Amino acid sequence: MLKLAIIGLTCTTLLILILFGMSNNPTVCEPSENGNSTVNDDTIMSEHLQVEAILHYATSRVIPQQTMEEINISFNILKSLTPCNLLVFGLGHDSFMWSSINPRGTTLFLEEDPKWSRAILKDLSFIRSNTVRYRTTLYEAEKLIEHYNKEPDCWATKSILRGNSKCKLALNMLSNEVYDKEWDIIMIDGPKGYFDQAPGRMSAIYSAAVMARNRKGPGVTHVVMHDVDRDVEKVYAQLFLCRKNLVHGVGKLWHFEIPPALDMNTDFC
Ligand SMILES: C[S@@+](CC[C@H](N)C(=O)[O-])C[C@H]1O[C@@H](n2cnc3c(N)ncnc32)[C@H](O)[C@@H]1O
Repeated sequence: MLKLAIIGLTCTTLLILILFGMSNNPTVCEPSENGNSTVNDDTIMSEHLQVEAILHYATSRVIPQQTMEEINISFNILKSLTPCNLLVFGLGHDSFMWSSINPRGTTLFLEEDPKWSRAILKDLSFIRSNTVRYRTTLYEAEKLIEHYNKEPDCWATKSILRGNSKCKLALNMLSNEVYDKEWDIIMIDGPKGYFDQAPGRMSAIYSAAVMARNRKGPGVTHVVMHDVDRDVEKVYAQLFLCRKNLVHGVGKLWHFEIPPALDMNTDFC
């Protein structure tokens, strides 16, 4: 009798162990809440994307422009928040890297140059990018600060991007996805800002500040900005992203942690 009980108990335990093991087996698919994909499909796709990224960079002759120390700042933020919403101004040779570090999150790029987009996306069709036609040129950078001071629709009390045609610094031409999502990390490494007729980064910086200010979810918005050795980037960052929010500075990269505005009547800084 005792023998039978022991055999029964052992069989039950084995069955539970087998079932538990199967539920953790990545090759077994479980329907997700929306019924379209599965958690385990996601795992396989994420791993596949990361392997592709390793192959891509191991066989590529061009390397990203940021230094290892600069990349590390964004990498550490991304690693701690993924899966998250990452918005990147500017497509580049680093785009695949950022997407592959956030495989289950949303990574969206905003690029002004369609020719450059085609060149970057040619072999990387899964990278998500929107083309943006900026309303500014670098040449106007100083004048746009006067415009900001005079135009109430630019003021922090207004803090609107969608439909804001009066404030030239507001990116009012973006897709609804950009306005409707809360971006956990905003990387500003574009648009071009090194010759007079280039769009400059003024409206990207202003709009990132507005998005961060309007955050409703928990936590802060991380804004990382490259090329802070240039005057326009420096001045606009201090005006809208604020010195008090600057948490790291490495090489040409600044990292801001911007809390949501609790009181809309306060200024940007
Ligand atoms: C400063 S780059 C970003 C570089 C990126 N972080 C990297 O490591 O490759 C951003 C902008 O420069 C422009 N750009 C960069 N390299 C380019 C190239 N080789 N040809 C044309 N445009 C380029 C694109 O319009 C892009 O939005």
